[in-house]
Amino acid sequence: MADTAPFDAGPNGDYTIDQNWSAYTAEEHAVWDLLYERQMEVLPGRAADEFLEGLTLLNLAKGGIPNFETMSDELEALTGWRVVAVPGLVPDAVFFEHLANRRFPAGQFIRKRSELDYLQEPDVFHDVFGHVPMLANPVFADYMQAYGKGGMRSLEWDALKNLAALYWYTVEFGLIQTDKGMRIYGAGIVSSKSESIFALEDRSPNRIGFDLERVMVTDYRIDDFQQTYFAVESYKQLFDATVETDFAPLYDKMQGAYRFKPEDVTPTDRLIDKGTQDYADAGGRNA
Ligand code: PHE
Ligand code: CO
Repeated sequence: MADTAPFDAGPNGDYTIDQNWSAYTAEEHAVWDLLYERQMEVLPGRAADEFLEGLTLLNLAKGGIPNFETMSDELEALTGWRVVAVPGLVPDAVFFEHLANRRFPAGQFIRKRSELDYLQEPDVFHDVFGHVPMLANPVFADYMQAYGKGGMRSLEWDALKNLAALYWYTVEFGLIQTDKGMRIYGAGIVSSKSESIFALEDRSPNRIGFDLERVMVTDYRIDDFQQTYFAVESYKQLFDATVETDFAPLYDKMQGAYRFKPEDVTPTDRLIDKGTQDYADAGGRNA
């Protein structure tokens, strides 16, 4: 999501562009393959089964940057979702409308080999490798559509910060508690080698059971590893908690503001791990 976008709505009127798949260079495909290999060194045993199943179902291991058309045909057959190309971040209302119509807007460009680990704007690897596998899961696919519809409805309130925090702590940086142990499913984690390890194994961040209202009033880091991760017990829990709640009274109460800092632990939290915050206190990635 972005408040303003440096692009115009384009010929389609909805910020979508042609992926122009045939124009990707051999080097760009090679960067995808390298990123893919690096993630597969860390994801088995760390990523949620649903994420890994999505990768397999959509044949994302085939090699090179996926062609959105063929990938979307496969995804549509599974859950009705398609992936559309956009030049970068699009305005919130446009983003919500795409999700509400089961279209996932994905960045068309890929990062350079010199910036494998960290980039400011989501590229095709983050958007496709990170987000699309979970869209093959029926419950998560429905959650994403509901989020888009909820986002469109929220525009009547000053609620974007609260709604953005929900997206951040679930879709981007969510954990799930499974019978086999804690797993990662958030796209921002599963598309980052270092955060895939940090989110599960480092003693620095807090890990807290998901609670809708708590999450919606919690600020977050956009420039470094998270200081707190929230864990759901199932995607159904996430779906039910969000879809069955009328957000209108929450928006009135929250007033588009945060009550908690990224590192806070509150007395009512279902605390799984109390983080030391060693990493953040030492200056994080700038240390
Ligand atoms: N139930 C929310 C509302 O009343 C909509 C929503 C669903 C928001 C799922 C986020 C995720 O607006
Ligand atoms: Co993302």
